[in-house]
Amino acid sequence: MKKLFISAFSIACILSSLSSCGKTENAESSNTAKSACSATAENQVCTIDTLVADSIILPAAQTTGGMPIYDALSARATFRNFTPDALSDQTISNLLWTASGVNRPVADDPRLTAPTARNAQEIDIYVCTKTAVYLYQPVGHKLKLVNKGDFRAQAGKNPFHANASVDLIYVANYDKMEGFDDNGKAFYGATDSGFISQNVYLFCAAEGLKTCVCGHIDREEIAKFINLKNGYITLTQPIGK
Ligand SMILES: Cc1cc2nc3c(=O)[nH]c(=O)nc-3n(C[C@H](O)[C@H](O)[C@H](O)COP(=O)(O)O)c2cc1C
Repeated sequence: MKKLFISAFSIACILSSLSSCGKTENAESSNTAKSACSATAENQVCTIDTLVADSIILPAAQTTGGMPIYDALSARATFRNFTPDALSDQTISNLLWTASGVNRPVADDPRLTAPTARNAQEIDIYVCTKTAVYLYQPVGHKLKLVNKGDFRAQAGKNPFHANASVDLIYVANYDKMEGFDDNGKAFYGATDSGFISQNVYLFCAAEGLKTCVCGHIDREEIAKFINLKNGYITLTQPIGK
C-alpha cells in the first residue's frame, strides 16, 4: 500500500511540474527545481535535499493511517547509526507535519500537532539538508530558505549529525513569547520542544527511520548559520535511515 502510494506520487511528480511535490517559489534556478522533481528512482523522487530554492511548497502530508500508536510506542528508540540515504519529499513532508504541522486548519486560528503553552506556537523548526537550511512554516506547509550550504555537521557535537538525511533544529522564538517572563520562556520553550521531539520519535518508529534528539550542541555556532535574532536553541534532532 505504501509502495503504491509512493509510486503514484512519483508519477504525479514526473507528469506535472506544477504538482505539489517539492514545488518551488522563486527557485534559484528553475532547472535545479525541475531536475530534482524528475528523478525516477522510487524512493528518491523530488529530493528536497538537493534543491536550493527561496521557498518550497511541500507535498500535502499524509495525515491518516500509519502504524497503530501502541506499536509506534513499542518501537520508539534512539538510533545514532545513520546511512547517507536521502528521505523522499513525501517523507520530509510527513515528518514536518507530524513534528508540528497544522492539524486543525481553521483560517484565523490554525492549531498544531504539538501543544504549546498558551498556544504561543513559538517553536521554530529549522531543517538542515545536504544543500541548505530552511525554516519550516506550518501554515502553508512550506520551507523558507535561511542559508545555503551543508550545515548538518554543525547541528550537533556528536559526529553522527553529518550523516543524517536531515537535521532538525528547535528554536524557542522569543518574539512569539512576549507575555512570558524569562523563566517562562526557558521552561516552556524547552517543554514545547520536547513534545515536538517525541512526535518525531514516534514518526520515525512508525516509518522505520532513525533519530536521536540532542542537547549536546554548539548553540553559538548554530545561531550563526540560522541567523538567530531573538530566541533560544533548545534541541536538535537528526533523522535518517
Ligand atoms: C533532552 C535530551 C537530550 C539528549 N541529548 C543527546 C545528545 O546530545 N547526544 C546523544 O547521543 N543522545 C542524546 N539524547 C538521547 C538519550 O541519550 C536517549 O534518549 C537515552 O539514552 C534513552 O534511550 P532511548 O531514547 O532509546 O530510550 C538526549 C535525550 C534527551 C531527552
